[in-house]
Amino acid sequence: MRFSITFSALLALATTSHSAFATQFQNLDLRQGGDVNSFLQGLRDNNLTALATVLQAHPTVTDRIFAENTEKLFLAPTNEAISKLPTWVTNNSSRLEATLLQHVLRGNFDAANLNAYPLHTIGHSLLNESAYSKLPGGAGQAVALAKSGNKTFVSEAVNNDTFVQSPVRFDTVTVQPISMAMTVPGTITETLRFMGYSEISTLIANVQNGALASTIDNMAGVTLFVPTNEAIRKYVGTFPNPTAIPTVLGQHIVASRVVYSPLLIDQGSMISSSGQDIVFDNAAGTVKVGNFTAKILQTDIIAQQGVIHQIDNVLASTALDVGRATQAQKSAEESIDDEAAQSFTGPVSGKNSITSQGTDVPAAQPGSGANNRSANDNSDTAGSGQTESAIGNGTNGNNGGASQAGSNNGSGVINGLNGNGSGIDHRQPNAAVSSKSGMGLVAAAVLASSLLAIAF
Ligand SMILES: *[C@@H]1O[C@H](CO)[C@@H](O)[C@H](O)[C@H]1NC(C)=O
Ligand SMILES: *[C@@H]1O[C@H](CO)[C@@H](O)[C@H](O)[C@H]1NC(C)=O
Ligand SMILES: *[C@@H]1O[C@H](CO)[C@@H](O)[C@H](O)[C@H]1NC(C)=O
Ligand SMILES: *[C@@H]1O[C@H](CO)[C@@H](O)[C@H](O)[C@H]1NC(C)=O
Ligand SMILES: *[C@@H]1O[C@H](CO)[C@@H](O)[C@H](O)[C@H]1NC(C)=O
Ligand SMILES: *[C@@H]1O[C@H](CO)[C@@H](O)[C@H](O)[C@H]1NC(C)=O
Ligand SMILES: *[C@@H]1O[C@H](CO)[C@@H](O)[C@H](O)[C@H]1NC(C)=O
Ligand SMILES: *[C@@H]1O[C@H](CO)[C@@H](O)[C@H](O)[C@H]1NC(C)=O
Ligand SMILES: *[C@@H]1O[C@H](CO)[C@@H](O)[C@H](O)[C@H]1NC(C)=O
Ligand SMILES: *[C@@H]1O[C@H](CO)[C@@H](O)[C@H](O)[C@H]1NC(C)=O
Ligand SMILES: *[C@@H]1O[C@H](CO)[C@@H](O)[C@H](O)[C@H]1NC(C)=O
Repeated sequence: MRFSITFSALLALATTSHSAFATQFQNLDLRQGGDVNSFLQGLRDNNLTALATVLQAHPTVTDRIFAENTEKLFLAPTNEAISKLPTWVTNNSSRLEATLLQHVLRGNFDAANLNAYPLHTIGHSLLNESAYSKLPGGAGQAVALAKSGNKTFVSEAVNNDTFVQSPVRFDTVTVQPISMAMTVPGTITETLRFMGYSEISTLIANVQNGALASTIDNMAGVTLFVPTNEAIRKYVGTFPNPTAIPTVLGQHIVASRVVYSPLLIDQGSMISSSGQDIVFDNAAGTVKVGNFTAKILQTDIIAQQGVIHQIDNVLASTALDVGRATQAQKSAEESIDDEAAQSFTGPVSGKNSITSQGTDVPAAQPGSGANNRSANDNSDTAGSGQTESAIGNGTNGNNGGASQAGSNNGSGVINGLNGNGSGIDHRQPNAAVSSKSGMGLVAAAVLASSLLAIAF
């Protein structure tokens, strides 16, 4: 009894009067990646004074940066870039910290070795808070980098945040100043609206009165191929059977798997949420489902749950294999290693990618309209030498279907919501306009089985 009292008293002492030691010890632990004060001074010495000021006021960000002894790339907004951050970012501490964490990528990203636009080099940032990033395994939000001629930049959906000044290194952190700050991406449906992809927004919103939209927005990891508005109008103009539309939409969705442009090349085909193969052809810069082929116009539009690629045609196959779609999604989920995802380092490639759809998924049924290929069959993929020019051909619009995202003056792209395109990728969550128009084509006639392929 006495012993236990003494023991408790000691414990109490330890937790109160020795807390100063505990804190010091913790700080030592936190700083294994370098020294915060010399880092902030280094930023000031390099004209990144506004960033230094913001970071000093938000030590949770520098704590995260220096908690790890791994190499990092800090995409550092210049003073002007910080001054242009919209108030909806700067007036919310949580969102501001999220924004800053998105600028820090784990690994080495040597500017000279970045992929050539429109192919990107993708890194995962430290931003893994679930309110801002819903990727498989809890990975940090992705950031797309690229070079083009002698420019290197962060490639946002509607901005190129150009690398300015030379990089400087502080302990484990390479600081690369950039001309504009990124903003944290919105959900998939918000991003579709932000990009002005109104036709697909309407179709998706109409499947079971929004059930498909909320399924996608709640997924941890999704790849979406989005036909241009023009392509969808053309398809709808052929008066497709409304009950087939959810299946057709499903061909454009890869569930629980995020296939960024380097992974299109490294991993080749994917399995759609309607259970068919989506076959990437590197030489042509196309994706194909059954008899339907589309050229990729813009790659790597980053959203909270994954990635969007814009294409010039509807993959209008009505072939549906719910069982295979289900297996493909399970396979993707089982391929995830949370620990690896959360410590992801360096550029994304086929070797380190967080998800895949494995050999446990059988080939599509003969006669189902799908290509008769196994999940891992990459045979349509051309050699890596052709990579950049191939995708380049598609993106440069040789095949029509202008990329709306390429227009940077904000007028058509941002639905008029965010002023005139002040140069920041404003994806203000609350700014999204409801796109429920009078289409009603799908809502009335959704096959439960079609939806099942997407939502289970
Ligand atoms: C900082 O800015 C000043 C004036 O704008 C310039 O003279 C100087 O070279 C800059 N320093 C660095 C390290 O870029
Ligand atoms: C932040 O700014 C936006 C406008 O930019 C405003 O609507 C919002 O109420 C502000 N929030 C806070 C917490 O001040
Ligand atoms: C800050 O933004 C987050 C994410 O959008 C939101 O959940 C939170 O309510 C906001 N906080 C304030 C004080 O507005
Ligand atoms: C974010 O990643 C860190 C490791 O860098 C991990 O400790 C933390 O649990 C992760 N947070 C979430 C919400 O996944
Ligand atoms: C690329 O660099 C060359 C010199 O090395 C320069 O003349 C040219 O203007 C640069 N182009 C761009 C787009 O900056
Ligand atoms: C980004 O740079 C590439 C290559 O120079 C260019 O083709 C593309 O239009 C630019 N994107 C934006 C949004 O400015
Ligand atoms: C694909 O096209 C071929 C040749 O045009 C045709 O024979 C076949 O029926 C088509 N398949 C489907 C599923 O439409
Ligand atoms: C399709 O694949 C199955 C199983 O791999 C195979 O038995 C069949 O012969 C293939 N059919 C065609 C037409 O290639
Ligand atoms: C476009 O593709 C053709 C082959 O289809 C190729 O010969 C040409 O070099 C490509 N052009 C560019 C700019 O990549
Ligand atoms: C914006 O772009 C559109 C289409 O490219 C053009 O017609 C319009 O004049 C531009 N507006 C401004 C303000 O530059
Ligand atoms: C429109 O652009 C001009 C110059 O690019 C900028 O000064 C102005 O603030 C912008 N207006 C809005 C509403 O963003």
